Amino acid sequence: MTDNRNITWHDYTITKKLRRDQNGHQSFIIWFTGLSGSGKSTIANALAKALFIRKINHYVLDGDNIRHGLNKDLGFSEKERAENIRRIGEVSKLFVDSGQVILTAFISPFQEDRDQVRRLVEPKEFIEIYVKCSLDECEKRDPRKLYQKARAGEIKNFTGIDSPYEEPVNPELVIETDLYSVEDCVNKIIIYIEAMKLI
Ligand code: ADX
Repeated sequence: MTDNRNITWHDYTITKKLRRDQNGHQSFIIWFTGLSGSGKSTIANALAKALFIRKINHYVLDGDNIRHGLNKDLGFSEKERAENIRRIGEVSKLFVDSGQVILTAFISPFQEDRDQVRRLVEPKEFIEIYVKCSLDECEKRDPRKLYQKARAGEIKNFTGIDSPYEEPVNPELVIETDLYSVEDCVNKIIIYIEAMKLI
């Protein structure tokens, strides 16, 4: 592949398949989406621990952390959120190519942005998990008092308050953090990825 910018794609000697074979598991994206405070980071970290114990190579990308570095130039307009997710999608694809399981915890409120990431990789490489929790409950939790600030008009374009959240249309899994424990939610995900023969 060469294009008019004079850049050429180089195939790697050590392929995705070789890396997967050596690791003894598949590589794929577990994409958590949900409102702020729904429990994405908590579940991603608990799942990371479960994968670590099973010696499965993985890494977590978390919205708040990535916005401190790679994406620190981005705000919360629709366009900037789309760019946030586009970059994370590309980074996640690299992790998949490296033979690892990548867990991402981003609000990622727009279906089209999530679908674009899905289209970047192979069908079995993208698992969309809707971390479902009512806005009411998220507002009650409000660990960083962000909803309070958004209600007071101190934060603009806050998801669920004055910026939309589009529920996933056809996610691989839905986990309801206002009904089930963290342990139960993690078990549900492990059972799914085992059943799909991904680990
Ligand atoms: S996303 O919509 O672009 O996917 P992302 O997951 O990266 O969002 O970042 C969300 C985090 O940024 C929230 O957990 C919260 O701590 C912080 N934040 C700051 N401003 C906003 C806002 N306007 N809407 C949502 N989250 C915000």
